[in-house]
Amino acid sequence: MAESMSGLKRSNRCGELNLQNEGQKVTVMGWVQKSRNKGSIIFVDLRDRSGILQIIFEEGKCSDAVFEKAAKLRSEFVIAVVGTVCRRAGAVNKNLATGEIEVVAEQLRILSESETPPFQIEENSKTKDDIRLKYRFLDLRRPDLQRNIMMRSKVAMVVRNFMTKEGFLEIETPMLMKSTPEGARDYLVPSRVHPGSFYALPQSPQLYKQLLMVSGYDRYFQLARCFRDEDLRADRQPEFTQIDMELSFVDIDDVIDVNERLLKTLFKEILGLDIQIPFQRMTWQTAMDRFGSDKPDTRFGMELHDVSDVVRNCGFGVFTDAIAQGGSVRGINAEGQGGMSRKKIDALTEFVRGYGAKGLAYIALKEDGSMKSSFAKFMSDEDMQALIKAMDGKPGDLLLFVSDAKNKTVYAALGALRIEIGSQLGLLDKNKFNFLWVTEFPLLEWSDEENRYTAMHHPFTMPMEEDLQYIDTDPGRVRAKAYDIVLNGTEIGGGSVRIHQDDIQEKMFEVLGFTKERAHQQFGFLLDAFKYGVPPHAGLAYGLDRLVMIMAGADTIRDVIAFPKVKDASDLMSGAPSQVDPKQLEELGIEVSEEDGEEE
Ligand code: AMO
Ligand code: AMP
Repeated sequence: MAESMSGLKRSNRCGELNLQNEGQKVTVMGWVQKSRNKGSIIFVDLRDRSGILQIIFEEGKCSDAVFEKAAKLRSEFVIAVVGTVCRRAGAVNKNLATGEIEVVAEQLRILSESETPPFQIEENSKTKDDIRLKYRFLDLRRPDLQRNIMMRSKVAMVVRNFMTKEGFLEIETPMLMKSTPEGARDYLVPSRVHPGSFYALPQSPQLYKQLLMVSGYDRYFQLARCFRDEDLRADRQPEFTQIDMELSFVDIDDVIDVNERLLKTLFKEILGLDIQIPFQRMTWQTAMDRFGSDKPDTRFGMELHDVSDVVRNCGFGVFTDAIAQGGSVRGINAEGQGGMSRKKIDALTEFVRGYGAKGLAYIALKEDGSMKSSFAKFMSDEDMQALIKAMDGKPGDLLLFVSDAKNKTVYAALGALRIEIGSQLGLLDKNKFNFLWVTEFPLLEWSDEENRYTAMHHPFTMPMEEDLQYIDTDPGRVRAKAYDIVLNGTEIGGGSVRIHQDDIQEKMFEVLGFTKERAHQQFGFLLDAFKYGVPPHAGLAYGLDRLVMIMAGADTIRDVIAFPKVKDASDLMSGAPSQVDPKQLEELGIEVSEEDGEEE
């Protein structure tokens, strides 16, 4: 039977107590991690969000009634204990912050009993994800998740303090807004008052923050919830949080400066680490050429080599055809991996196929000076030696090549392969934090699917002045004043200098294939605002979840979000999304077609 806590007041959290509290009478409350009954003495590990504390109930030191009650304790019971902090009679537990002490109990109240939980509440649980997520309220009791969630709270606080000191104003923007899809799919919310009309949940506060600049707020920030209906991955959720900011009267360097100092402050205050600023900067083109990725992980080398010129006239058709079709041949040198088994190389070949590559050509250089290669028979010895030299190949190295008529495929396959091998070789050191600004992104990206150019960042991003001349003749060549902040191969944030001239903005919509009417229908309010005095402005947004994920050393952003969704965007705990009452649909003027209904 549950007892009340009336008359008791918690004096300390479990993990706060140590030898300095020796002799103090304390009242602690929490969950029973485990209890061991040794006959005349009962040990209870008591847990709250601060840690674990050993409680002992000893015959003679507490009343018989208390001792009997203690004998009933089971895992996850919620209890209150009054007792005295003592130096441990038994062995000191070096793994516990409270390992030198124990609380000798005098009083005990069982505040709530617990059924046997479906899994043990413990660090690094091996329980399957779907069970843990169904019982997320229990999963969230685990110390590793609690540390992450507490770190997240502290990150938010440090951000707010820093931004406020730097003169930023925290301003909320609407959750219910106009649908302006450009990028991911919108989450729509039907309007009851305007049947047939819909709001969209924001994919980001982009338009509003630009309008706030037009309105003169100068420096804005917000911890903004964003919604995107896109395929989920380990670093993507359908709803996530941005640290969003916008600044007036600034250029790229100003945005970079304030953000480097923000990150430095965060890493110092949260992790106690001194990170060096300014960070390295790299243009998008260099990032692609050296790492095959616009978010390079610079914790290790194994950079790409363009060997197109070396093999242009060789006898291997796979290579020469790709080059003749305007593509390239590039390779990476997995140093010291020349002894890799055929089976493993085949697995890597399958891996790059997943990125669109048609194969993976290799040269394995043996320590004894011999070599094995999947394409040596097509090449002269001379060409082979030239290729090895171009790759800096030494005995014991494994050289891996991808060729394709599309450079994009070569980059994607080798960029991913580099990370895969780096990960297999344990080169992704979690204690290393490599920050990198990637700059000068292309303004536009050709979409085969839509048969038009789409904005690589978003339609409000400013082209680089020196490239504006190509916007009509060669739009793909125009670079943007856009930048991403990359940490250990993850894009933790991105932003740009915005277009603040209405003629350039209209031009941008034109290049994106918008008619004037459609541009005005979707973004009229922004274009209107731009007629009334716009300061030059720029901004950036971080994925807060991604940033905390890396700071916490977590493998997925689910581990830093209290109530995340799974791959199919559902919430295993609450069962969302779910069907609704027909009456609700009727009010909204919505009919679900038979087919959709039957699928359920
Ligand atoms: P962008 O679309 O690059 O820019 O988003 C900014 C950052 O948000 C994070 N992010 C996500 N995190 C988790 N789950 C997702 N589905 C997800 N999508 C994005 C990433 C990304 O770098 N308005 C612009 C910013 C600007 O220009 O100021 C924007 O939203 O870490
Ligand atoms: P094949 O002549 O098809 O047996 O190919 C010889 C080698 O070249 C094999 O190792 C293939 O995996 C590899 N290969 C095939 N296509 C490509 C490609 N586009 N890029 C790199 N290697 C390739």
